[in-house]
Amino acid sequence: MCGIVGYVGNEQALPVLIQGMRQLEYRGYDSAGVTVGDKGELHRVRRAGQLGNLEAALSDDGLNGTIGIGHTRWATHGAPTDANAHPHLDSNRKVAVVHNGIIENFDVLKKRLISEGMEFHSETDTEVIAQLIGSIITSKGCSLLEATFEAIGQLEGAFGLVVIHADAPDTIVAVRQDSPIIVGATSDAGLVASGIPALLAYTRDVVPLENRQIAEIKPGSVRVMDFEGNDVASEVVHVEWDLDAAEKSGYEDFMLKEIFEQPEAVRNTMRGRIDAQHHITLDEVTWSRDDLLGINKIVVVACGTSFHSGMAAKHAIEHYTRIPVELDLASEFRYRGPVLDDQSLVIAIAQSGETADTLAAVRFAKEMGAKVVAITNVVGSSITRDADAVLFTHAGPEIGVAATKTFLAQLVALNLFALYLAQELGMMDAAKLRETIDAMRALPDQIEEVLALQGEVQRAAKRYADARDFIFIGRGVGMAVALEGALKLKEISYIHAEGYAAGELKHGAIALIEEDVPVVAILRGTTLYEKMLGNVQEVRARGAQTILIAPQGDERARLLANELFEMPVTKPLLTPILDTIPLQMLAYFVAKERGLSPDKPRNLAKSVTVE
Ligand code: AGP
Repeated sequence: MCGIVGYVGNEQALPVLIQGMRQLEYRGYDSAGVTVGDKGELHRVRRAGQLGNLEAALSDDGLNGTIGIGHTRWATHGAPTDANAHPHLDSNRKVAVVHNGIIENFDVLKKRLISEGMEFHSETDTEVIAQLIGSIITSKGCSLLEATFEAIGQLEGAFGLVVIHADAPDTIVAVRQDSPIIVGATSDAGLVASGIPALLAYTRDVVPLENRQIAEIKPGSVRVMDFEGNDVASEVVHVEWDLDAAEKSGYEDFMLKEIFEQPEAVRNTMRGRIDAQHHITLDEVTWSRDDLLGINKIVVVACGTSFHSGMAAKHAIEHYTRIPVELDLASEFRYRGPVLDDQSLVIAIAQSGETADTLAAVRFAKEMGAKVVAITNVVGSSITRDADAVLFTHAGPEIGVAATKTFLAQLVALNLFALYLAQELGMMDAAKLRETIDAMRALPDQIEEVLALQGEVQRAAKRYADARDFIFIGRGVGMAVALEGALKLKEISYIHAEGYAAGELKHGAIALIEEDVPVVAILRGTTLYEKMLGNVQEVRARGAQTILIAPQGDERARLLANELFEMPVTKPLLTPILDTIPLQMLAYFVAKERGLSPDKPRNLAKSVTVE
């Protein structure tokens, strides 16, 4: 999520760091900082906002030194402020750390370090790492590398780390656990970054660390070890990509890259929220059990794709908690005079956290005395200031205008929230909760399985790219998938697409079915499988081409399908998290077939800040 750059060599570090950070800034970071080491001291400058703010600050305060680390932050813990920007230092200002990822147990470690006398100056999880490494060095007198080894043994979560020490002017230590770290291979300098674009100006030969590897980087040499301290042979990879391709990690478009980042997005959204005993903890939701018991109605408000995740959430919340849920388009909500009071809970969903209609809905709900929880992907966004509680999705920055990974992350956050409510209210027996959580934990691997259908989806996209209309149908949470599939297709391919409740088709839309109209039917996410098959028969009888999203091994679906995408087995309420993926890919490949740019569809903006 964040951008990391490190340099050690004979040149001044600062220009190298800034150049690398500029290449990572396309992802829309919210703050930036650098630390440079010189004559046994670390000098640090950090600024909230765009990289330009940091550069302006540095023009008055140039930093000298031949070792340094830089960071462009995309906030996860703590708002985007100067104090929360990286690098973070230990109390002795000897250790500096930049970090990409989430430390799940930072709270426990922080409390311990505070009890040992450390003073913290930020709200971040990262500062814990700097303090921890610093305290190990102070108490044991060991090297930076040894202390980093010991510290990572205590960290839980995902971390790409780059660490320097004021008294080790020729050494950078870098660590990869579930977060990319790329070392540059040059003969006279040491370079490291979280992404290839930051290295391209200096080298095309790189050593991408494998998961659970640690590197000691010195000018002209790189030593790679596993987490047990064994040296491992590292492979130098020659990068052929130009800068544009490197920004997209070799994918043609951000949208495709983001579709393929979904396993990680889903993993990150669950990270630290479910413990080994299958207990859900949502730190950000601080209402007491009595507060939750007092809720007699829930209203979900959102726009666009977020509205579709809200539609699936309505099913989950009502199923698990039996609390009635209303679903509103944020643009309609306050104009219909909704009945709200202090026993109402409003769930406002907005990946950007800046959608004007959703913000207005939040303000209206608060004026009516309702409690408001926001589900968003952007720390520090407007919605986080207005809501009473915020559940972050941790999907990482999304550049493509079409929401993909943020949608899956919302579905995960909302399912977690529904299960959390059921757990706190005692509405779900332990065995069922356990089983559902196990099913959620299996999702990232199952998403990988679905992504492997890319070739099949691409072939289907070729066949239907010239269609004039597309119809998507589903029932239950499958209807949310149908609506989202239709929205994805129309927004990036400009083909007319209707998302419909399958049972409603015969009340009008079936008149649109004629020879060769593609109909996408989601056969899961409903107890009404037989009725869904009936709807498929109806459209086939009128000449439709059927594209079916069905469970693996569904022979009846096979007989009725022109195209069949077989999905791994999961709980019915979780099926949208898998079943949406082929539809995202279908929209993407249809747009490409039509020669359109999926990342920047006409007339659309990534966040809609006007009502
Ligand atoms: C999704 O692909 C769209 N770009 C759009 O519908 C979007 O979901 C909508 O504008 C809501 O955005 P938000 O989640 O940031 O509120």
